[in-house]
Amino acid sequence: MSRSDADVLVVGGGLIGLAVAWRSAGRGLRVAVVDPDPGHGAGQVAAGMLAPVTELQYGEEPLLRLGLASNARYAGFAAELEAASGLPTGYRATGTLAVALDADDKAELSELHAFHRRLGLDSTWLTGREARRLEPMLAPGIRGGLHVADDHQVDGRRLLAALLRACAHAGVTVHRGTAAELLVEHDRATGVRLSTGELLTAGRTVLAAGCHSHLLPGLPDGVLPPVRPVKGQILRLRIPPAYRPFLSRNVRAVVRGSHLYLVPRADGELVIGATSEEQGYDTTVTAGGVYELLRDAHELVPGITELPLVETGAGLRPGSPDNAPLLGPTALPGLVAATGHYRNGVLLTPVTADLLADYLATGAVPALAAPFSPSRFVRSPA
Ligand code: GLY
Repeated sequence: MSRSDADVLVVGGGLIGLAVAWRSAGRGLRVAVVDPDPGHGAGQVAAGMLAPVTELQYGEEPLLRLGLASNARYAGFAAELEAASGLPTGYRATGTLAVALDADDKAELSELHAFHRRLGLDSTWLTGREARRLEPMLAPGIRGGLHVADDHQVDGRRLLAALLRACAHAGVTVHRGTAAELLVEHDRATGVRLSTGELLTAGRTVLAAGCHSHLLPGLPDGVLPPVRPVKGQILRLRIPPAYRPFLSRNVRAVVRGSHLYLVPRADGELVIGATSEEQGYDTTVTAGGVYELLRDAHELVPGITELPLVETGAGLRPGSPDNAPLLGPTALPGLVAATGHYRNGVLLTPVTADLLADYLATGAVPALAAPFSPSRFVRSPA
């Protein structure tokens, strides 16, 4: 039996899948989403830092362009989503301060500053004293800092709730179910079979299932590269009203080679993340992970030990072979990818949704999406 005959079926109801569905419905397409637990996934765990400039890595300039484009859309995207859903998104224009704890960190941070300047990015070098003037809770020994006024934050959980509501208002059908097999007829993807045996058919099927995307049975070999899980453990603390603001902006550092960040939300939540572990589909929170995050965060902001620890969690970042997302049509007609966002899923949500909706509505791949074609890993025969 077939239950759906949509223009677009999105497999995966996380941030990317829901945003693609919402934007596609806004383009007049009939859209359905399938997910066993819509509104869950990595976005529930993520800190929500929007940091294309402070998270910049060497050799990732195309990804930087995509990240900057998404960051520039965020305020508008959040406002539109809040209006459509009647729910807050937690978008907050705080800026970010990256700091150096010792002389080695300072050298690394000043390299990053030089890289920013070569690329024409806006970042300002601060002495340790200037950094502490901005954030008085920082440890007295801070050696220096880099202030990036345009790296902001959003709340992934609020974003998910708002997207679910906006999808419902836009007429998106959400099926609670598990996609058990991709349907392929005459060399074209035509939807999925659910674990219950039901068929959901559609003109185009969008794979947005994070690090589970390449595991969908029925997916022909070579159509989608592996999307590996990269575990991130994260902590949520609460800043009691008497301690606020505590921190006024995102604060980050590289401590003993690991990226550490503290994201203070308007509602008093303080998120501390995140570990980066490649060990398969495991979301166990470990004593070691929590210890390392607290130890490193305490070096940066000693006052955190006073705060209530209210939650620990772990999520799986979806990493493609080159850590950049897979966006657009695959080699299998009818099958489209929106996955592999790795460390940047929250940041890249608006631009991914816009680019995919554009492609789905017009059939043309937008120029900004072209470098992220899922086919870039397909080897042509020798
Ligand atoms: N973008 C932050 C993280 O992946 O931990």
